[in-house]
Amino acid sequence: GRGPLVLGIESSCDETGVGIVRGTTLLANTVASSMDEHARFGGVVPEVAARAHVQAFGPALHQALAEADITMADVDAIAVTSGPGLAGALMVGISAAKGLALGSGKPLYAVNHLVGHVGAEILDSGRLQTPTVALLVSGGHTSLLLVRDLVDDVVLLGETIDDAAGEAFDKVARLLGLGYPGGPRIQRAAEDGDPTAIRFPRGLSSAKGMRAHPYDFSFSGLKTAVARWVSQAEAAAAGGVPGSVGGDVADTAAAAERAGLPVADIAASFQDAVVDVLITKALRACADLGVPRLLLGGGVIANARLREVAAERCARAGVTLRIPKLSLCTDNGAMIASLGAQLVLAGKPPTGLDFGPDSSL
Ligand code: KG4
Ligand code: ZN
Repeated sequence: GRGPLVLGIESSCDETGVGIVRGTTLLANTVASSMDEHARFGGVVPEVAARAHVQAFGPALHQALAEADITMADVDAIAVTSGPGLAGALMVGISAAKGLALGSGKPLYAVNHLVGHVGAEILDSGRLQTPTVALLVSGGHTSLLLVRDLVDDVVLLGETIDDAAGEAFDKVARLLGLGYPGGPRIQRAAEDGDPTAIRFPRGLSSAKGMRAHPYDFSFSGLKTAVARWVSQAEAAAAGGVPGSVGGDVADTAAAAERAGLPVADIAASFQDAVVDVLITKALRACADLGVPRLLLGGGVIANARLREVAAERCARAGVTLRIPKLSLCTDNGAMIASLGAQLVLAGKPPTGLDFGPDSSL
C-alpha cells in the first residue's frame, strides 16, 4: 500500500471509533457502541456516552492496531473529531488523541465529523468524485453539504432546525411503543403498512418554507403531528377519553393495542414523510447547483425505504447516487482517518494541541 498511515478517532456521539487507513485503503475499523446503555432512556444520554467512551477507547485502540498489524511508531498522523457532537463525548476522543500525539510525537489533525462522513466514500470506492451534494442523516445530525473539494471547499447548505431525522424515528417509535433504537423498528413495522394511509406534514417543504429555508430541515412538527394523530385515534377508540401520548412506553404500547391503532400504517406514513423531505431537498440542491451527484451518509441511511426512494428519484433526475457500505456510513474512526489522510496528502499543517471540542462546528 501507499500513502500516509493515519489513525482516526471518533467519539462525537455514542460510537467509540478507532480506524486506520493507508492513503485511500482501509486497514482497520473498530467501533464500540454504547447504544444499549441508552435504550431505557429512549435516546443518547450525553453523560452516559462520555463515560462509555472512556471505557471503550483503550480496547478499541488496541484492537485497531492489531487488526492493521502496526504499532503507534508506524503511524504518520493522528486525526480526531473535534465537532460537531456532544461536548463531553468529544472531549474523551480529543484528550485521548492529544495524549497519543504527545506520547508518540505524531502530528495531530482536528477534523469536522460531517466532512468525515464524506471521507468514508474514499475508503468505499477508492475516490471521491466532486462536486457532490452530501446528505448526512443520523440520530445526531441531518445536514446537507456541497462538496467541491474535500479538503478546501465544503459548504453547509442546510441542516435541521430542531430534531435530527434519526431522533424523529426514535421519538415516533417510542410513541408507538416500538422501543429503541426506533429506526429499524419503524422500518420493520412499516413493511406491512400503507405509506399513503395518513398524509403527515413535510416540514419546511411548503412554497414558503422552501423559499425561507431552501435546504433546512424540520422534523419536530412531523413528530407532533404523529402524536396528535395517535392521541385522537385513541380518544375516539376510548369514547372521548384522551390517550396516554407521551407517557410511559409500556403504557403507550398497551394503549396503542387497546385502541387498535394502525401501527403499520402510521409507521409507513411517517417513514415516507421523512424520506420524501430528505430526498426532495437533496435533489433540489443538486438541481439548483447543477451538481449531478448525491452522496449519502449517517446511520439513517440503513433505512431500506430511503435507499429505494433515493435510487428511484436520482435515476429519474440523472443524478449519480453513491452510498458507502453501512459500516462506513454509521459513525466510525476510519472515516476520520480517511479525511486525515487527505489533509496530509494535501500538505495541510497539523492542528497542534491547542484546540477543544466544538459541539456546533
Ligand atoms: O449514525 P448513527 O449510528 O449514529 C448516531 O446518531 O448515534 O445513527 C443512529 C440513528 C438512530 O436514530 C437510529 O434510529 C437510526 O440511525 N437508524 C435508522 C435505521 N437504522 C438506524 N433510521 C431509520 N431506518 C433505519 N433502518
Ligand atoms: Zn455521524
